[in-house]
Amino acid sequence: MEPTAFVQVLEAFKAERLAPIVGAGQTALAEGAGGGDPTELLRVALVNEISVAELAAVWIPRTPEVDVKIAFARQAGDEAGHFQLVAQRLAALGFDAAAFVPPPDNALFAYLKGLETTVERIAAGLVTLESIAYGVNENFMALCASRGDDATVRIYRDYIQPDERAHQQLGQSLLAKYATTPDSQTLARATVARVLEIATAARAQAAAKLGTACFPGC
Ligand SMILES: [Fe+2]
Ligand SMILES: [Fe+2]
Repeated sequence: MEPTAFVQVLEAFKAERLAPIVGAGQTALAEGAGGGDPTELLRVALVNEISVAELAAVWIPRTPEVDVKIAFARQAGDEAGHFQLVAQRLAALGFDAAAFVPPPDNALFAYLKGLETTVERIAAGLVTLESIAYGVNENFMALCASRGDDATVRIYRDYIQPDERAHQQLGQSLLAKYATTPDSQTLARATVARVLEIATAARAQAAAKLGTACFPGC
């Protein structure tokens, strides 16, 4: 398939598989079941931001294409910035982020770190993970707004969400450049499906633990 058309078809496929993840958060909000301790939810964001910063960083030396390498490097820096913004917000709420110890990789990040080709990394990291992040962060912002936590809403609206959208768009243009053969397009689509499958299960598990499906991504 022509690469730009392929990316469009892939976007539709991704949106369809992403809908239940974002929908779970919307349902929780609508039912007033957007429970969960605010600092606990922001600590989930800390874990996600540092995990994706590290993921992008480990891909830098393993990815030969210079433009993709630079995309991961820039992403790693942006995600580190998100970590710091969330850590500052947590500090204002009385949580000492210096005492934060990142947990070991969950199933999703273990899978992502194992991806061996550039097309898979673009499809998984920039295109899919960033779309999940953008979607679930919108719900998290609505939850924060409903609680009057405007400081957190501002961090997401003014800094984090514009970056997550830019990462996703960069992923789409890189995929159009590198997923040019039937094999690479099949691989990209399978990777998007697999990431969404693992993320759906991981977020359902986390939702059960947190008491809400409305919590942030990376
Ligand atoms: Fe991002
Ligand atoms: Fe982020």
